Amino acid sequence: MRKILITGGAGFIGSHVVRRFVTRYPSYTIVNLDKLTYAGNLENLRDVEGLPNYHFEKGDILNVRFLTDVFKRYEIDGVIHLAAESHVDRSLHNPAEFAVTNVIGTIQLLNAALTAWDGAFQGKLFYHISTDEVYGTAAPGTYFTETTPIDPRSPYSASKASSDHFVTAFNNSYGLPTVISRCSNNYGPYQFPEKLIPLMINNIRLRKPLPVYGEGENIRDWLYVEDHACAIDKIFHSGEVGTVYNIGGNNEWKNIDLVKLLCRIMDQKLGREEGESAKLITFVKDRPGHDLRYAIDASKVISETGWRPETSFDIGLEKTVDWYLANDAWLNHVTSGEYLRYYEEMYKNR
Ligand code: NAD
Ligand code: DAU
Repeated sequence: MRKILITGGAGFIGSHVVRRFVTRYPSYTIVNLDKLTYAGNLENLRDVEGLPNYHFEKGDILNVRFLTDVFKRYEIDGVIHLAAESHVDRSLHNPAEFAVTNVIGTIQLLNAALTAWDGAFQGKLFYHISTDEVYGTAAPGTYFTETTPIDPRSPYSASKASSDHFVTAFNNSYGLPTVISRCSNNYGPYQFPEKLIPLMINNIRLRKPLPVYGEGENIRDWLYVEDHACAIDKIFHSGEVGTVYNIGGNNEWKNIDLVKLLCRIMDQKLGREEGESAKLITFVKDRPGHDLRYAIDASKVISETGWRPETSFDIGLEKTVDWYLANDAWLNHVTSGEYLRYYEEMYKNR
């Protein structure tokens, strides 16, 4: 009978978390609080919005009065905090916006929980969703563990690392029951096409150039988004309060190899000649301060909660490509207007 506030539930990962909780736990009340920025889209939740245990509240995590009211009205006893500015390239253009949303927004939410719960912490939990990027870049052969020193290197990761520190500080200073998880790169349906995989799928389908930063040698550890939602579920229900969990797919890919794989899958799906889409690959100016490699050691979450990734990369990528091809209306909608201006601006000097 939990009453859970999920922030950022209209975004990519948040919508999968909301869907999982609303459908698996019909006795829970799930409140999705989202500002609906460019990245938030209620179309991501059309299939569950009519369910009686689902509620949507449009608003900003920076708005203290609004947060106070939501905590009170729904008698919230658990928070899963995903709302954030999430794109590294945007953070390079507007670092202050990332500090305001990701740091100040998290502090306001922590404060709202602390005030609402007023020392009665039994059965309460504030779960903060963080990222592997707070650890910086992983040297070859090494893996991020929960004790790897924090070493953020982009404005985005600096803002996430700072918010993590505030979560820990609220646990240590005020006894707020908190838990943090740090996940590697997610992919899957409903991801906004500013991120690598959906951007490439969209450009391949439109026969537009495929902008690979630098020489495409950077490595990311990819996890299917529903596997991340499953890990969040396990940690929410059985994670140790006051600790951190790393989540990852043990699935490292160089960007260039991944883009070539996507080209091959798309050639088959679209009935194109083999090698046709790969001709669109264009090496462009690198992302400043581009972290070379992320690699997660997920042994703690596996041994403590029994979680493990269930979707192989072959199957996950195929499902993802199929979803984007079947949902071209969604893609066309989110890539019209503002997105086109963003794309021109972001990629003009590359
Ligand atoms: P996203 O950009 O798709 O969604 C973010 C959501 O937050 C949007 O719905 C947006 O409207 C909402 N939001 C933004 N500012 C808000 C505000 N001030 N008030 C209320 N809502 C606001 O992000 P995502 O990729 O789904 O990431 C979700 C979380 O997971 C983020 O905290 C991110 O740092 C973390 N994360 C992402 C990944 C990944 O690969 N995408 C990996 C690890 C961790
Ligand atoms: O590791 C977790 C993080 O993964 C999350 O915390 C972030 O919210 C999420 O955006 C993601 O960050 P990345 O920077 O790794 O993801 P992105 O999809 O932007 O880029 C993945 C890799 O692909 C990275 O090395 C940059 C490269 N890239 C990206 C784009 C958009 C390109 O080569 N070309 C592109 O056009």
